[in-house]
Amino acid sequence: MAKKTIRDIQVKGKKVLVRVDFNVPLKNGEISDENRIVQALPTIEYILTQGGKAIVFSHLGRVKDESDKASNSLAVVAKRLSELLNKEVTFVPETRGKVLEDAINKLKDGEILMFENTRFEDLNGKKESKNDPELGKYWASLGDVFVNDAFGTAHRDAASNVGIAANIKDTVAGFLLEKEINFIGGTLENPERPFVAILGGAKVSDKIEVIKNLLKVADKVLIGGGMAYTFFKAQGYEIGNSLLEADKVDLAKELLELANGKIVLGEDVITAKAFDPESEKNVRNVTGIPADEMGMDIGPRTIALFESFIATAKTVVWNGPLGVFEFPRFAEGTRSIAQAITEIKDQATTIIGGGDSAAAVIQFGLADGFTHISTGGGASLEYLEGKLLPGIECVDNK
Ligand code: 3PG
Repeated sequence: MAKKTIRDIQVKGKKVLVRVDFNVPLKNGEISDENRIVQALPTIEYILTQGGKAIVFSHLGRVKDESDKASNSLAVVAKRLSELLNKEVTFVPETRGKVLEDAINKLKDGEILMFENTRFEDLNGKKESKNDPELGKYWASLGDVFVNDAFGTAHRDAASNVGIAANIKDTVAGFLLEKEINFIGGTLENPERPFVAILGGAKVSDKIEVIKNLLKVADKVLIGGGMAYTFFKAQGYEIGNSLLEADKVDLAKELLELANGKIVLGEDVITAKAFDPESEKNVRNVTGIPADEMGMDIGPRTIALFESFIATAKTVVWNGPLGVFEFPRFAEGTRSIAQAITEIKDQATTIIGGGDSAAAVIQFGLADGFTHISTGGGASLEYLEGKLLPGIECVDNK
């Protein structure tokens, strides 16, 4: 069902509540990846240039007790937002009350404020995370319309998304949420073929539903990363000290049967004797991993095999790194596949489903070579699983 977007409403002179997902990683108090902020700028800029009064809010981290507040304040994010917009952003260090209400009432058309981490309300009985009805109603009362642009939070049923939507007349998608729906949802519904899905990451258990759903729509599902070893075990190979989810071997067998040839596993892997960035690396056939070695990356023949599928693809969706890319020595597989995907950018829609694979391509400096890098981690995964996400469902239908 098509969703209403910000283009479908008038925002001029209105108090526009804007839920973004600015749950960005912080290292020593500094933002280490600002993709989520950058990707929300078009929505915010649109509201401001149309003469709306933007009231922006997000969660940040998990807030379990008072001592979590200082390290999870959105003040640093508001400062960066102001720099990126090249405009003053009034930061209100409250989540409710007179100070916040007065600041909102003082906003002029085209001005913006941001209020404090919505999860500070979790200190009061998990009100934000458990979608306390009073809280959603209160936040809804602060604005005239609601723009949900927080795709990263779309899998959460929180007061700051579905709670507000239930208590306000208009809930529309911002440009980022719209883009995520079009790219991820659109691809799952009607992909241009060949559609190649690439899945990596440590655990099969995290990706079972994604694999099942992608097997329904993709033409090939290439599997690498730590989870591949449970599949190798399912094929009867010895995997040494590689990652294994012993209780998922039978499931891996079932998935291979269900796949009917669609799942492509590697032919060789890079191994090491220890999980260590300096550990010596070896190339091994998947049928010959020594007992004292562990898989750390896909091998050169696997890279070539995966590249051959990518070269002719019209749609690629990638979720999860293919090796221990955090160690440069074992980053080659993930980097080569990222590179191969950037090479088909002109002929294909290429999507990274957030999380670690997004971090990897950003680290490699290849982010511009992709059609879309999702801002969702858990949200992208659940969307790829084919689930309905509450943060999308709560947006008004066209
Ligand atoms: C995310 O980073 O996946 C979202 O912001 C949701 O955060 P959460 O897992 O803390 O709910």
